[in-house]
Amino acid sequence: MIRRRWMTGILLVALTATLSACTATAPRSGQSDAEGHPDQPRPTAPPLPPLTVLDASYPAAGVSVPGLRGQRILNSAGISARWADLPGAKEFNRKLAEVVKQQIEALTAELGTDYTPEAPPAPAGLSDRGCVPGSTFRSAEQIVSDPDLAPPGTALTIVCDPVLAAGPHFGERLRFIRSHGGQVTSDTVETLYTETGTDRVAREAELLDAERLPDLYQQAEKLAAPIGQLTGALTPPEGAPLLRDHVSAIQFGPDGSLLLTVDQGFFAAHPRREDAPPPTPFSLRLSPQLAQKYLTDLGRAIASSIAQPWAGTPQVNAGQAFVDCDLVPCLALTFDDGPSSNTPQLLQDLAAHDSAATFFLIGKNVAALPQVVADEVAAGHQLGNHTWGHPSLTKLPLEAASKEIADTTAAIVSASGVSPALVRPPYGDWNQVLQERIQLPFVLWDIDTQDWREPPEEDLIRSAATDPDPGDIVLMHDIHATTTAAIPKILAQLRDRGFTLVTIDQLFDGAVPEVAYSR
Ligand code: NI
Repeated sequence: MIRRRWMTGILLVALTATLSACTATAPRSGQSDAEGHPDQPRPTAPPLPPLTVLDASYPAAGVSVPGLRGQRILNSAGISARWADLPGAKEFNRKLAEVVKQQIEALTAELGTDYTPEAPPAPAGLSDRGCVPGSTFRSAEQIVSDPDLAPPGTALTIVCDPVLAAGPHFGERLRFIRSHGGQVTSDTVETLYTETGTDRVAREAELLDAERLPDLYQQAEKLAAPIGQLTGALTPPEGAPLLRDHVSAIQFGPDGSLLLTVDQGFFAAHPRREDAPPPTPFSLRLSPQLAQKYLTDLGRAIASSIAQPWAGTPQVNAGQAFVDCDLVPCLALTFDDGPSSNTPQLLQDLAAHDSAATFFLIGKNVAALPQVVADEVAAGHQLGNHTWGHPSLTKLPLEAASKEIADTTAAIVSASGVSPALVRPPYGDWNQVLQERIQLPFVLWDIDTQDWREPPEEDLIRSAATDPDPGDIVLMHDIHATTTAAIPKILAQLRDRGFTLVTIDQLFDGAVPEVAYSR
C-alpha cells in the first residue's frame, strides 16, 4: 500500500510536468520547483519498472492552443455542442464533425425527429464558439447546470478541450453528456488526435495496436494480482479481453511513457468472483520503451514528439476550411457586379469575421481592377462569372451570350489564375438551352436584399442578416458603398446567430447543382 502511494506520487509529479510543458510554464531544471524551495535537494527516484499498475485514474488538464476555429451548435432538438476545428486539418475536422453527428443522430433517432441546422434570432450569443477551457474536466452535473454549456432544455451537451499540442501533433477531447431534466443519463468521452502535414487522424483507442493488447493484458494481470481492489476483478475470461475498448484515457508522459486509464466497463465485461471487492478504475503506466511496443505508428510518432513545442496552428482562410453544412448552419453571401473600389474594405471585413463569400464578377470590371480579383482569391473566396457587360443573356443570340461568358472567364484567369466554375446570369435570366451551352452551374439566390436601391441600413441588415435561414444564398452588390458600409454589422449579426459564412462550393460540399437557388 505504501509502495503504491509512493509510486502514484511520483507519477503525479511527472504528469504535472507534462501538462505544464504544453503551456510553456514548466520550470527549467535547476530552478525552483512549484512550491518555491530553490535549495532543497530533490529525492532521487529509483527508475520505474516498465509496466506499473495504479489503482487510480489520473488527473488531466487541457492545453491552450491559439488560432483554433471554434464551432458551436444550439438547436431546438435539445442540442448544445461546442468543439474546435484545427485550421487546415481537413481529415481531423471531418472526423470531429462525424463524431458530433453520430451523437446527434443517436439522440434524434430516440426522439423520432430529424436534425436540421438552425440559426436562432439575434441576439443569440453564438459568436462565442469553441471550447470553454477545462469544461471537459468538470463533473457531468456541473456541465449540465452551466447555461453557457447546456441551456435549459438541453438533452445532449458536447464540450471540448485541446489536450495535446506537441510538434506536429494535436489532440482534442470531446465529452458527450445526455441529460433529462438536469439529471445526467449518460457521459462519454472521445479524444481525437491528428498529425498536421500528413493529416493522419486517430481516435484515442486507435493509437494502440489492438493485436498486441492481449499480451499487455497478460502482463498487467500478473502485476495487478497483489493490488487489493483488483483482486478477483481480473479473473481471465475465455480469450483476450478487449482492453482497448475500455481504455478511457491515454496520456503521454513527458518522457514518452504512456498512461492508460481503464474504465468501469472493463470490469463489467469480465466475470468476477462473488467475493471480490467492488472494482475501481485503474491505470497502466508503460515505460517509453514498452509504450513503443503497444502503440500504432501515429501513437509512436506522438510519443516521440511529446516534449517538442507545438509547431503552430496553420492559418487557413474561411473559404478553404472544411465545413459540414448538414451539421452547422451555413449561409452563402454573394456579391455581384464587382470588383469595385469598395471591395478591398469588404475583404478586410470578411477576414475580420472569419467569413467567406462568393464574388460574381463583371468582365470589364475585372479588366479594370485585376489586383482586387487576385486579392479575392488569395483571401480564399470563390469567384463566379457574371458576364462581361451585364446583358440579359436570354435576350442575346446564343453565340453572343457564350462570348460574354468566355471573355469574362479569360479576364478572371488573367487577373487571378483561377477559372471561375460558376455563372450567375444577370437579372437571373436563364433558360435550359443557355445552361446546356455554358456547361457551368448557374447560381441564383433565394434572398434578394435589393441593396442596389440603397435602402436605409436597418432595412439592409434585416434582409441580409435577420431574414436568412440556414442554406440560403444571399444576393448583394459590392459596387454599392451603402452595402459594404453595412457589412460589419451584417456579419456580426449572422455570426451571432450561429451562421458559418461559406462559399457556394462549401455550401454544396463541392457538388453545386446545375441550377441553384439555395441549399
Ligand atoms: Ni448583376
